[in-house]
Amino acid sequence: MSTSTPLTRLSAKDFLSVLDLSPVEFDQLLALAAELKALRRRGAPSPRPLEGRHVALLFEKPSLRTRVTFVIAVRELGGEVIEPPPDVVFGGRESVEDVARNLERWVAGAVVRTFAQADLTRFAKAGSRMHVVNALTDEEHPCQALADVMTLAERFGSLPGLRVAYVGDGNNVAASLAHAGSLAGLRMTFASPKGYELPASVVEACARVARHGSTITLTNDPLEAVSGVDAVYTDVWASMGQEDQADTRARIFEPFRVDAGLMAAAAPQAVFMHCLPAHRGIEVTDEVMDSPQAVVFDQAENRLHAQKALLAMLMAP
Ligand code: CP
Ligand code: NVA
Repeated sequence: MSTSTPLTRLSAKDFLSVLDLSPVEFDQLLALAAELKALRRRGAPSPRPLEGRHVALLFEKPSLRTRVTFVIAVRELGGEVIEPPPDVVFGGRESVEDVARNLERWVAGAVVRTFAQADLTRFAKAGSRMHVVNALTDEEHPCQALADVMTLAERFGSLPGLRVAYVGDGNNVAASLAHAGSLAGLRMTFASPKGYELPASVVEACARVARHGSTITLTNDPLEAVSGVDAVYTDVWASMGQEDQADTRARIFEPFRVDAGLMAAAAPQAVFMHCLPAHRGIEVTDEVMDSPQAVVFDQAENRLHAQKALLAMLMAP
């Protein structure tokens, strides 16, 4: 089975950040993801560029969406998945570099969820013969952002000029959304409590790659951020690894909850987005999660299609 979008191989060996994609590759990936989704919807077979190759999933944090969608993605592309247990992954038994130097002798790719982005970078450098994909670090969640912009493109037809407000912690999901949104031409506002803003380094990197008039504004005022926007996005207030800060953060982030009142300040056609898992009643109310405005399960579905496109282009023979 072939696709009309060519399986052009990505120039980078790894996908550790949205910024590893060139603007042209970003556009091609989104086009391929849409095409693979349409093929799957019609029950047509997927292209199988991973035939005969193995991909290891190395997860140091829990996951439903990322793990399940990568398993299905690899299998539908013709490859095999292996899932070593977390106790043999990073740190404990041998160095990050030695884990990579072993794995690359057996597998063609590794999909890694870990803590520090710097550890992932060391792993990818040491495993120079295999492709490495970031399945979430403390700093970035690039696969999520691919699905997010794909979902916006489906809903609104075109990305440049769309106005998106991210309300909450300036975390990994926010950083990757900023990266992808900059390549997509989004006009973005990030509203966070003081001290929890999107890092300046992310804003600077976005300014270097911004296309189609993309802008980023930071504010500490959620109501100002969502005024008239096409999409309101939020994520958990305490990410994986920050559980000990959950109570403190719950107090600080209280004014940043996305409820029906906040959604009413967005444009009438606005969608609500969340990477999931959602903490209902904390960062978002049931009313918003269960409203017709919520596209959160479209985002979850699109993880599969976006990651199939990513793997097909990253690991094209
Ligand atoms: N959104 C997301 O990455 O979900 P999981 O943590 O379940 O993989
Ligand atoms: N910011 C969240 C995203 C989960 C998909 C976390 O890192 O836990």
